Amino acid sequence: MTESTFPNTRMRRLRQSVFIRDLVQEQRLHCSDLVWPLFVCEGENTTEDIASMPDVKRYSVDRIVEKAKTATDLNIPAIALFPKTPDQLKDAAGSEALNDQNLVCKAVRAVKAAFPDLGIICDVALDPYTNHGHDGVLNDQGRIENERTVDKLVEQARVLAAAGCDIIAPSDMMDGRVGAIRSMLESDGYPNMIILSYAVKYASAFYGPFRDAVGAGRKLGSDSKKTYQMNPANSDEALREVALDIAEGADMVMVKPGMPYLDIIRRVTDSTSLPCLAYQVSGEYAMTQAAVQAGWLDKRAVVFESMMAFKRAGASGILTYFAPYIADFLNQK
Ligand code: PBG
Repeated sequence: MTESTFPNTRMRRLRQSVFIRDLVQEQRLHCSDLVWPLFVCEGENTTEDIASMPDVKRYSVDRIVEKAKTATDLNIPAIALFPKTPDQLKDAAGSEALNDQNLVCKAVRAVKAAFPDLGIICDVALDPYTNHGHDGVLNDQGRIENERTVDKLVEQARVLAAAGCDIIAPSDMMDGRVGAIRSMLESDGYPNMIILSYAVKYASAFYGPFRDAVGAGRKLGSDSKKTYQMNPANSDEALREVALDIAEGADMVMVKPGMPYLDIIRRVTDSTSLPCLAYQVSGEYAMTQAAVQAGWLDKRAVVFESMMAFKRAGASGILTYFAPYIADFLNQK
């Protein structure tokens, strides 16, 4: 393709007014691109603040149902639920994850009863349930044991499927868990359950506020989650992770965090035809909110610009704590 040069070509011709800019715009953001992550806490009629995530709250199950109504009213197609498990229910094995009366299961059933058409995504990982904050079970040396963890994740997925969620999202980064969960779903009568694999999840410092939100603490040890989550220096490895999860039966994949990893979203979407979601994580949210609160950034402009970045990189959907803020604005327009 050869471009003629100046003055035959003047790039500014197509930027000179609103109508022409709109006409040639390459990407558009819709409410249907958004997934809203929500935190569930114990109690009734309860709302709790999260210090490191201004304006994001934890809600008791009855209030989560109200938020599900908000999502429906705003045309947000799906929510993702994360529990803040009370400390006394946490143990080294994350047993509460397998309790079909746990907070997430209660929330799934309540939301499904009230709003059956709203999509519900549930995380599969043990970190909201373990007293050490890791996503799996530890051996005597303090290492995460892969197969023992996968066995638990399969049980966790079974409980979540029975509660009625629409999408199972393994976020633990154990090897072989997508295949193990898929074969359980097939044999247990859930052939249509969607698996959204957090296939490319980096060992990131941008998850800090989320760990406050679910009470997972920040006391993970010097390796933190580096023995299972990906090294931020790697990119080819992301394609191996995605290829494996596809082979094991994932329907969609996720890249996480979001904005610092746009190059990875692009590489994944160029090399596969599966839908790829982006997660604008808690630390990205916290940075934005902090700068907005200080008066240093224009909230609406930066939030929408960040959404366009994800669309441009090829994401087919975005998990973002800004979802209701964005959808509200899109619906008014
Ligand atoms: C659980 C999980 C995490 C996030 C989503 N699922 C935290 C982690 O892996 O430490 C982070 C989401 C966010 O930061 O917004 N494994």
